[in-house]
Amino acid sequence: MITVKNPTQIGKMRDAGKLLYEVEMKLREAVQPGITTADLDVMAEQLIRKNHAIPSSLHYEGYPCSICASVNDEVVHGIPSDTRVLQEGDIISIDCTLLLDGWQADSAFTVGVGSISEEAAKLIRVTEECFFIGARQCVTGNRVSDIGKAVEKHAVQNGFSPIRDFTGHGIGREMHEDPAVFNYWDARNGMGPRLRPGMTLAVEPMIAQKGWQVTIDDDGWCARTRDHGLCAHYEHTVAINEQGYPELLTLPGYRWEAEA
Ligand code: MF3
Ligand code: CO
Ligand code: CO
Repeated sequence: MITVKNPTQIGKMRDAGKLLYEVEMKLREAVQPGITTADLDVMAEQLIRKNHAIPSSLHYEGYPCSICASVNDEVVHGIPSDTRVLQEGDIISIDCTLLLDGWQADSAFTVGVGSISEEAAKLIRVTEECFFIGARQCVTGNRVSDIGKAVEKHAVQNGFSPIRDFTGHGIGREMHEDPAVFNYWDARNGMGPRLRPGMTLAVEPMIAQKGWQVTIDDDGWCARTRDHGLCAHYEHTVAINEQGYPELLTLPGYRWEAEA
């Protein structure tokens, strides 16, 4: 069931989104050679709690931390560790979800550690472009599947592959709500629901440098590419406003006024 939010509720999600944006800006600045993924997790939890919010990922289906920190060939759900020391040339995806006053915000980004290869930088850039191209499809009358169609086209044009085993999702009082937001198109997801004002979606392209196939580590969480190619992730919580256009709740002030 897709839940539609009223403007007051979207206002609360906007507040949650703004806080998450501030937390993630600080995490982004903290990324540097020598820091551990556990350091980033502690930082995130402290920032979230100091602002009277709750880290939604902590204990979610048994997940042990407040962020997911996925390095290089890790796709999503990398568990922070005090033995995972970031090295110059790595790329790291940080995904964080928080709950403020009963409403969720979910956002992720990938950043280079020190200086990185041109190919890694291109993957990060194209993944962000995939997000913005996909999010721009979040207009009344389109189908949810128009997002994935646009994401896939841009990824493939650049020689990359959208991950197929994980999707974006509706979001609101719960971190994961209907509908699933695929990052590719096929006949099975192509007849999905139409978008309308008040829907709130986490749009989150996960884009692999080579193949999209993944394996799960023995910890039961960390997904990595089967061929060990790099992977990047970029996510924002998107609301469709009363005019039928998207607003990025986790990127304060960013909205589309009309279809570009
Ligand atoms: N932030 C993730 C998402 O984008 C979910 C976190 S999974 C958890 O959907 F297990 F870490 F909570
Ligand atoms: Co997320
Ligand atoms: Co998400």
